[in-house]
Amino acid sequence: MKAKGRRQKLTVLVIGSGGREHALAWKLAQSPQIGEILVAPGNGGTGLVGRNVPIPAADIPTLLQFAGENKVDLTVVGPEAPLAAGIVDAFQTAGLPIFGPTGVAAQLEASKAFAKQFMREHAIPTGDFAVFTEYEAAMAYLAPHSGGVVIKASGLAAGKGVIVCDDMAEAEAALRQIMVEKAFGAAGAEVLIEERLSGPEVSVLAFCDGRTVVPMIPVRDYKRAYDGDRGPNTGGMGVFAPPPDVDDAFLDEVTRAVLQPTAAGMAARGAPFVGVLYAGLMLAESGPQVLEFNCRFGDPETQVILPMLDGDLAEILSACVERRLLPQMVGWHPGACAAVVMAAPGYPGTYAKGLPITGLDGVPPDVMVFQAGTAVSNDQLVTNGGRALATAARGADVATAVSRAYAGVGRIHFEGAHYRRDIGRGAEERG
Ligand code: AMP
Ligand code: GLY
Repeated sequence: MKAKGRRQKLTVLVIGSGGREHALAWKLAQSPQIGEILVAPGNGGTGLVGRNVPIPAADIPTLLQFAGENKVDLTVVGPEAPLAAGIVDAFQTAGLPIFGPTGVAAQLEASKAFAKQFMREHAIPTGDFAVFTEYEAAMAYLAPHSGGVVIKASGLAAGKGVIVCDDMAEAEAALRQIMVEKAFGAAGAEVLIEERLSGPEVSVLAFCDGRTVVPMIPVRDYKRAYDGDRGPNTGGMGVFAPPPDVDDAFLDEVTRAVLQPTAAGMAARGAPFVGVLYAGLMLAESGPQVLEFNCRFGDPETQVILPMLDGDLAEILSACVERRLLPQMVGWHPGACAAVVMAAPGYPGTYAKGLPITGLDGVPPDVMVFQAGTAVSNDQLVTNGGRALATAARGADVATAVSRAYAGVGRIHFEGAHYRRDIGRGAEERG
């Protein structure tokens, strides 16, 4: 970018340690513009594509110092916490190019209360809601709304702060848990009571340069731990793209009614959104409704989106940072892609680490393995987190992509590995 001559290759720093960051490093490595890829702190897989740097994603001062000293041309932030903590502001102040929203723009994810009030103000389709800081007031509001509500801690709660309630007793228990027992700590200082919507879900992520918004291929993820959408919520056990029940007209509608007004509204507030704007949507009878915004790439959504991307990721991200994004920079391969997550036994509860992982060398060549909770210990790849890795594969349709991804899973072994067997099953009708 600016500091270097045209032909000099870029040094890029990816921040994070999940499968998302492995996929980002893998796709960036395909760009002719890229020289060195650094990943902080990375995992067993990112070390194969680039060089891991042992700095935690939360340590903004050390990351800043490292990027300056190593003449990093572009930094890409994976997780939400450093974004909400202002890593982009810190890098910008130091004159270092970084892809992601500022701390204020990241409020779209970090404060669900901010996001809902913003949507109300800008007539972006979303369910009815109210925000509370006092338990008694929240309880009083519940009485006439007992038909079905969703109760959410406003702040960042690693996806766990959302409680979908079937009846009054569950809603009261949820309010007690968040507001009295403070189960999510400060993230629950503000609580939302939302109208409960129903319908299939779809996620639309978009590249955003503060003004121009270019949507990515839509995806559908599987949040529950076990087959048939049973068990506890997880960060995501599988995902595929595109969902067969959404089409180009749908994507145009989401762009017009959700993504563009969000970018315009943030710019009008003096907080232009640069980065990935991620809309979690429900296809309600009244049309697509926003359930939540995230301010970054999804994990494992990225593990199917980037294999489908027909474009130069380094160029797209640079264009966002330099406010010159064009729709023609972003193309998509035909067909579909699916990813299946293999998790450590016990995930999302407590789980063991250090389980040896074998069989990666036997995975068919048309299957990608994106590592997440892995590390290399004495030359042996071992588990180092809950979601250890995901296999991902493309195909002419979802069914073909899914069966290839499972062929990869069948070759990989670690003790007690658990994964869903039903990713993509009934893709046409499930939500
Ligand atoms: P969120 O993290 O806000 O996207 O919520 C996590 C999950 O909770 C969503 O993917 C939905 O399945 C469910 N959910 C969230 N908000 C609502 C709502 N207003 N109505 C129905 N389900 C919801
Ligand atoms: N897979 C959900 C997320 O990245 O937020």
